[in-house]
Formats: sequence, C-alpha cells, structure tokens
Amino acid sequence: MPTKGFTTKAMHAGEIKFHPESMSVPIYQSVAYPYEDAREAAEIFSGDKPGYTYGRWDNPTVDAFERRMADLENTESAIAAASGMAAIFLLCHHLLEPGDEVVSSNRVYGGTFGLFDIGLPRMGTKVNWVTQPDSVDAWAAAITPQTKFLFVETPSNPALFIADIPALSTLAKAHNLPLVVDNTIATPALQQPILLGADMVIHSTTKYICGNATSLGGIICGPKEIVEGIRQNGIRYLGPSMAPLNAWLNLNGLETLALRMDRHCHNAMVVATFLEGHDKVNYVNYPGLESNPYHKLIKPQMKGCSSLMSFEMKGSYEDATKFIDALKVFTHATHLGTNKSIVTHPASTTHSVLGEEEMRKAGISPSLIRFSIGIEDDEDLIADLTEAFDTFGK
Ligand SMILES: Cc1ncc(COP(=O)(O)O)c(C=O)c1O
Repeated sequence: MPTKGFTTKAMHAGEIKFHPESMSVPIYQSVAYPYEDAREAAEIFSGDKPGYTYGRWDNPTVDAFERRMADLENTESAIAAASGMAAIFLLCHHLLEPGDEVVSSNRVYGGTFGLFDIGLPRMGTKVNWVTQPDSVDAWAAAITPQTKFLFVETPSNPALFIADIPALSTLAKAHNLPLVVDNTIATPALQQPILLGADMVIHSTTKYICGNATSLGGIICGPKEIVEGIRQNGIRYLGPSMAPLNAWLNLNGLETLALRMDRHCHNAMVVATFLEGHDKVNYVNYPGLESNPYHKLIKPQMKGCSSLMSFEMKGSYEDATKFIDALKVFTHATHLGTNKSIVTHPASTTHSVLGEEEMRKAGISPSLIRFSIGIEDDEDLIADLTEAFDTFGK
C-alpha cells in the first residue's frame, strides 16, 4: 500500500480475503491445510498454485503478519520467527558459510552479543566487533574479504547508541555488502531503515510491536530472494517458526503501534528531562535530550526517540538496586517496549553474559539502570521516581 499512511497500512496492509468475512484476521490454529485433490497438493508444493503447505514454514495468520510487516518496512517480503533471537540466528545461518564473517557494532542486545560471540564460532564463522561504532572508519577497518554483512542495532539496547544509517549504507554499498538493521527499539513507526539505505531489517516483535508483553516473536524483512531462501532452507529445517496466535497478537499490536509510540516518546522525554535535572544522577542516555551526542542524528532519520533510556545513579551497585526496589509503578522485569513502564538492571540480568571488560566497553556500569517508559500517565511516573529517590534522603 505505497500511497497510504502508516497507521492505515498498519491496519490493512497484507489483507487476505477470508471466508466468511471477519473483522480481524482469523487465527489459523492449524499445522496443515487439506487439499482438494492430489493434483492441488502437487501444484501448491511446486509453487505453481498459491497455497499453504505445512505450519512450520507457512500459515495464513503468520502470512498476513509477514505481508503487513514487509509493507511497513518497505521490503519485498518478510519471514516471521519464534523470537527476535531466532530471526537473527536464521539470518546468520542463511547468509554465512564456514569461514565467513559479520561486522557488527558492539552496542547490541546481550543475546545478540552471545550469538555473535559464542554461537557464530560454533558454525565456523565469526564476528568482527566495531568497538567505536560512531566512526565509519572503524566500520571500514573491520571489513575483510570474508565479511558477508554489516549488522547494526540502532538505537541500541541499553546504551542508546544511534548509528548514522545513511553513512553505513554508503560504506556497505561501496563494499557490495548488505546492511542489516535491528529496528526493534524504534519500530517502523519511528524509523524506516530501508528508506535510509539499509538492505534488511530485523525485529524482536516481542517488544513494541506486540506491545503488551504477551508473545515472543521476531521478523526478518528483506528482498524476496533472501526471505524465501530462509523459508525453504532455514526455518523449514531448523524449525523456529512464529505461532499463529503470536502472529495474531502482533497484528493487533500493529493497529495501535503509531499511537502508542507517540505516547511512549512523550513520556520518555518527560522522564529523561526529570532524570537529567536530578542531583542523584550522573548522566542520562536518551537521544531526545539536546545534551545527548546523538541528538543531531535523530531528526534526519527518526520521527521520535522511542522510550528506552538508561542512566547512571550516583553511588554503588547496592544504591542502584535499592532504588529499583523502591519503585512501585515501574515493574522490575527483563523486558522493554511494552505498555507498562519497566526498570531493569542490565549488568546483573540482560547483559550479564558480557565479561567485565566487555561491559565497560559497551558502556554498562554496575550502577547503570535501564528504563523502558510505558504509556501510563506521566505525572504518576514522576511521582514514583521522586519517592524512590527520596528513600536516600531529600
Ligand atoms: C534490540 C533487540 N534485538 C533482539 C532482541 C531479542 O529478541 P527476543 O527476546 O524476542 O528473542 C532483543 C531482546 O531484548 C532486543 O532488545
């Protein structure tokens, strides 16, 4: 639906005619799809006739979600997976052969870090980390003849690194390599990497896209040739497919995504401004703040800064955990991108897989606290924060 607005597409793109007509895409809770006759089965399997074959690699509800996501991310095709990590793994499995390499910013989610650092060598492949991802020269220096793609998570979790996507795209094109963007934190409502020069986009749909912490999911949006290759040779034999119910929950999430992201961005700005002015805070990582080094990159590539932020408390690891325990409206959980505000302690949870040195390089200190700001009333969030800080004395 190239001529329609984002929210119209988020509700209608990829629609398939269902009989009898239904307001919502039905949940096809089925692993197989009976054929009229043997001829039809053969035609569907050979691709001569459109249709569904077996639930591990296709399902009508999942198909509707894939089409909608492809439309929203401006790609030819998309393939959904059981989780964000499954999507990243399927991509690596498809694009890499033994001896091949990935070049990635080291500012990535802990699971991605683990997959690249521990999982890739088990496949005879490896990552070349870019430890200064602000510098395009550092990216260029990490590329070798074995590099098969560039991977960047932007904004990154939890350090809020923002990549200059057009600059990385120029570099990738000069080396004839695809640029893959993990767009989980921004979502296509705020950032559309393909329009900025990226070649593929992946998401953990578990986060803002689903929006209410009810289902794990992931998706790869990209050229049809790659997506269908992953369907035929990846998901079909490895098996991490998205469940039909989860696709349905994600379709529902997409309908309100743009509205929710507006509110997430508003609330996050209110909280970040409050934290920045607080005397118990060393610094705040939120690109919406003018003081943030990435602030200038936002306007040309993002409609808003989403709602993930991190900040360092003055004091020790114990002070950070005391503060976390004092919060009442915020939920303490290892999640982000959901309607409810969440507080997380990355060093002891999401990023504990990183060693001390790697954590330091990735900007994660023992008193760093991560917030995923939800869509509650902003004054209630500020009151909760004020009370938690006051437990240290006014
Ligand atoms: C940016 C990012 N990418 C990928 C993932 C992995 O997603 P999932 O938990 O759905 O496997 C996460 C999880 O937090 C994430 O934050």
